[in-house]
Amino acid sequence: MEVVIASTDVLTGLAAGAVEALLRSGRPVVLGLATGSSPLAVYDELARRHREEGLSFAAARGFTLDEYVGLPADHPERYRTVIEKEIAGRVDFQPGAVRGPDGLAADIPAECSSYEEAIRHSGGIDLQILGIGTDGHIGFNEPGSSFASRTRIKTLTEQTRRDNARFFDGDLESVPRHCLTQGLGTIMDARHVVLLASGTAKAEAVHHLVEGPVSALWPGTILQHHPHVTVLVDPAAASRLQLADYYRETYAAKPAWQGL
Ligand code: F6R
Repeated sequence: MEVVIASTDVLTGLAAGAVEALLRSGRPVVLGLATGSSPLAVYDELARRHREEGLSFAAARGFTLDEYVGLPADHPERYRTVIEKEIAGRVDFQPGAVRGPDGLAADIPAECSSYEEAIRHSGGIDLQILGIGTDGHIGFNEPGSSFASRTRIKTLTEQTRRDNARFFDGDLESVPRHCLTQGLGTIMDARHVVLLASGTAKAEAVHHLVEGPVSALWPGTILQHHPHVTVLVDPAAASRLQLADYYRETYAAKPAWQGL
């Protein structure tokens, strides 16, 4: 697990650079796309590189991480709508190349299985962009989630619903209680995981993620078992890291050929 502590601008450039390097490799690329605030600057930067520097997503596919259950099709906070608005509709993905689990499916287990099958069929996710919840969730795998879990329905914690009420005009009751989310096992199958976190509200979760014992109480800790994880954090989110100086020193002395 590599930890990079830097300003948001630097972190944004690193994450966008990792996506760009894959897209320019000339092979079909599969991206895992998170919603929420954390990846927004990266999506803005990717849209800029597409617009101004010809970065193309035409040969890429995308899978979103999660989706609320039961939000009406025209609700602006439906994650497939958010992903379309924040990234998919701003670059040149082919029609249908970005897919998310359907939170309005009549048969939820069948929808989750078919989503897993679609990811498998695509060849698997090359780079998964992640945020982390204040309660340590990744995707919407709340505390207690199985490390072996695949895409399925989950119940959101009250803390997550409170955190996300800002997207629903501050109205907790409007935040759905259920979601579909890639499982921890699904996320662990991605070849490279790039997790972004900023602000003091994330400091405890980031500390557990990087330095805590691996525990279902802090689901993101499973990433300690992943061979290629990059944790991109601003100084506030890094403020509880015990080994922050070491991470800074390591990154400063990193050989240029290593990339992310
Ligand atoms: C979003 C997702 C969540 C968020 C997390 C952090 O698709 O799966 O895990 O990444 O809740 O949210 P923000 O980035 O809004 O702080």
